[in-house]
Amino acid sequence: MPPTIIENADLRRLNTFAVPARAARLVELDETAGASEALAACAGHGPMMVLGAGSNVLFTRDFEGSILRVRTCGRRIVSASGDEVVVEAQAGESWDGFVRWTLAGALFGLENLSLIPGCVGASPIQNIGAYGVEMCEFFDSLEAIDLDTGAQRRFDAPQCGFAYRDSVFKHGQAARWLILGVRFRLSRTARPRFDYAELRGELARSGVAHPSPDQIARCVVAIRSSKLPDPALLGNAGSFFKNPIVDLPRAKELIDRHPGMPNWPASQGIKLSAAWMIDRCGLKGAREGDAGVHDRHALVLVNHGSARGCDIWALAMRVRDAVHQRFGIVLEPEPTIV
Ligand code: EPU
Repeated sequence: MPPTIIENADLRRLNTFAVPARAARLVELDETAGASEALAACAGHGPMMVLGAGSNVLFTRDFEGSILRVRTCGRRIVSASGDEVVVEAQAGESWDGFVRWTLAGALFGLENLSLIPGCVGASPIQNIGAYGVEMCEFFDSLEAIDLDTGAQRRFDAPQCGFAYRDSVFKHGQAARWLILGVRFRLSRTARPRFDYAELRGELARSGVAHPSPDQIARCVVAIRSSKLPDPALLGNAGSFFKNPIVDLPRAKELIDRHPGMPNWPASQGIKLSAAWMIDRCGLKGAREGDAGVHDRHALVLVNHGSARGCDIWALAMRVRDAVHQRFGIVLEPEPTIV
């Protein structure tokens, strides 16, 4: 099937913030085999960007170029050896649908990552993570195509440079790859992970001492649903800022000055809670017109209806300035800002 081309495309339904924006050209890819043709349809029409489910992007203006939207579907078992099973999903598959498919097939590892919005192709870019697990722990490899040359290649985990909410695909030349499909290495043996305090607490409250992967998935869904807004009902892109990572002396000084500040060891220092800092600035539930800070989770910015991307961005800057003034920390946005 050749890619679909739409000129002067409306992007409001294609971004979960539901902000109004237009793209000069939208090229929709439904079959992996059509990737080269889709790239050709984008070429020569200004800058190019790739869009999946639109759940991690904020359009602050129209996009004067081509947007390549990936809608390719398909998932399969690639190989199985003893306990270990390698599975593959096409980039346009819904992440949560994919996680549910793995669990239905008794393939374990991704249960803590239930209900994360977005598609499989975006998961390595951000190295999505939640409730004590990061995608990179179960990643096997990915297939990608160079947006400029059309050359295709496979990346293994070290080549992806995974870190907290980061990979090579967010930086420089490597951001010029279109991810076509991702493989994961899962297990037939359940190895439940519930160290994350909130998950542990919720399971204990339900009287579950030895949770199965399905019970973990259900518990994660319950926690997420209780405080993270459903983008279908209230526009948002999940966490708007990354949790800042600071060195040990700086963390000690901040924790001494602000008792109760949540903190976790991270690979390059100590991770602090952006939500907690925003909350302490009194901004939870704040609202400027239709741009708001969610009233149940301070790290989530929301569109109450008719906010434009620039309104959300203006509120984000107000939040960033308040946190900087009070804690001396500059928060970094998590979504891609256009
Ligand atoms: N907190 C507050 N006020 C709030 C919300 C939270 O003080 O309004 C405090 C909580 O009490 C807790 C701490 O902040 O001590 C952390 O909160 P939470 O467990 O909700 O996690 P988070 O750090 O805010 C991260 C991810 C989420 C992921 C959760 C659970 C980032 C940027 N965000 O949020 O991911 O679901 O942990 O693992 O790392 C996303 O990336 O879009 C996302 C939702």
